[in-house]
Amino acid sequence: MTEETAAATVGREVIASARGLVKRYGATAVVAGVDLDIHRGECLALLGPNGAGKTTTLRLLLGLTPPSAGTIDVLGHPVPAEARAMRARAGIVPQFDSLDPDFTVSENLLTYGSYFGLSRRRVTERLDY
Ligand SMILES: Nc1ncnc2c1ncn2[C@@H]1O[C@H](COP(=O)(O)OP(=O)(O)OP(=O)(O)O)[C@@H](O)[C@H]1O
Ligand SMILES: [Mg+2]
Repeated sequence: MTEETAAATVGREVIASARGLVKRYGATAVVAGVDLDIHRGECLALLGPNGAGKTTTLRLLLGLTPPSAGTIDVLGHPVPAEARAMRARAGIVPQFDSLDPDFTVSENLLTYGSYFGLSRRRVTERLDY
């Protein structure tokens, strides 16, 4: 695929946006006024040195950390107000294995299924014992 056709396949629909995003811990603004738009089909990387605020920005976008200021919208949901509904539609690949070591594989799958609205019965049906 040429660069031109690759660019043409990226939709202009904004699927995630932030305006004036600020996160303060004490007197320190670790995210200090971020504006961004992510379009459908677009791949965005946050690059920066350790402690730059990359993880905090992602946590803000996912509604896992409340912002000190600014607005966030992901998949048409205001965040953090509708973060749970948004997260049910968002796929996340964590940096590290985040399975609970105290749970069995089945228990982990049941837990993750519940995050995406799958009933216990439906997950159990899909488990291959
Ligand atoms: N819960 C917290 N309480 C206080 N300070 C925090 C908290 N979480 C993060 N910080 C601070 O915010 C700053 C940004 O941290 P963050 O984890 O977002 O950086 P990062 O860019 O993801 O770094 P790395 O490349 O090491 O993963 C750091 O100075 C960190 O110590
Ligand atoms: Mg990080």
